[in-house]
Amino acid sequence: MTLSLTRKEAAAKIMVGLDKPDAEAALQVASRLEGTGCWVKVGMELFYAAGHEIVRELKKIGFKIFLDLKMHDIPNTVRGGARSIARMGVDMFNVHAAGGSAMMQAAMQGVNDAVEAGEAQSAPLVIAVTQLTSTSRETLNGEIGIAGSVEEAVVRYAVLAKHAGLQGVVASPLEVEAIKAACGEGFLTVTPGIRPAGAALGDQARVTTPREAVDGGTDYLVIGRPIVAEPDPAQALESILKELTES
Ligand code: C5P
Repeated sequence: MTLSLTRKEAAAKIMVGLDKPDAEAALQVASRLEGTGCWVKVGMELFYAAGHEIVRELKKIGFKIFLDLKMHDIPNTVRGGARSIARMGVDMFNVHAAGGSAMMQAAMQGVNDAVEAGEAQSAPLVIAVTQLTSTSRETLNGEIGIAGSVEEAVVRYAVLAKHAGLQGVVASPLEVEAIKAACGEGFLTVTPGIRPAGAALGDQARVTTPREAVDGGTDYLVIGRPIVAEPDPAQALESILKELTES
C-alpha cells in the first residue's frame, strides 16, 4: 500500500543521523535542516566528542532528539545511565535488547527515577536495538552464534523488549511487518538502513528506500549519510520528503 503523507507528517518521521566528529560540523548540517520538522539523531561519534553541550544546542534550535548510545551493561549501571540521559531532556534513547529483560527494565526504572525526582520534565521514549542493520545472516550465525534467520532473532528481541515495558525497537525496515504482527501496531519501529534509490550502501546490509520503509509501516526512518554526507544536506532531505509526499 502506498501511503500519502503530508510534508509535515513525512518530516516528523525522519531522524537525521548527525554522525559528525564535532559540534561545529554537526551544527553546520543542523542549521541547514532548521525548521523542516525532522528529528536529529545524536550517536556515539558526536556525543563522545561534544556531549551535553551539543544536545543543548540542538534542543535550542528546536529539534526533537534521539540519543543513540545503545547502552548494554549490568542493570544497575544502565539504570543510572538512563537517569542521567532522562535528565538531559532528550526525546528518545536506546539500549541493546541483548542485555536482557532485567537490563531493559532497569532502563525504564532509571527514567522513572529522573521523573519522580523532578529532574526530567517528561519521560523520553526508550527503545531497544534488536540486530544492527549491518548484520547479515552469516555474521549472526557464524560469528555472533545466534541460530536461525535475522528476522527470527529480531522478532524475539522485540517481544522481549515489549514485555520489559519499552516503547519500541530499532530494526531494519524489512522486519517491520513481522515486528508489528508480534508486538502490535502501537509498538514503535525505528529503522536505519534507509537508502534512496542509487545511494551507496556503505556498511549497511539490510536496506530499503524511504518510500518502501514508509509503505511497510515504519514509524521513524533513521537516515544518516544519504543526507549528512551530501554536499547539500537540505536538498537531500528535500528530495526524500518529495518522494514521501508523492502518492
Ligand atoms: O549513514 P546511515 O544512514 O547508514 O546511518 C544510520 C545510522 O543509524 C547510524 O548513525 C547508525 O549508527 C545507526 N544505526 C544503525 N543500525 C542500528 C542502530 C542504529 O545503522 N541497528
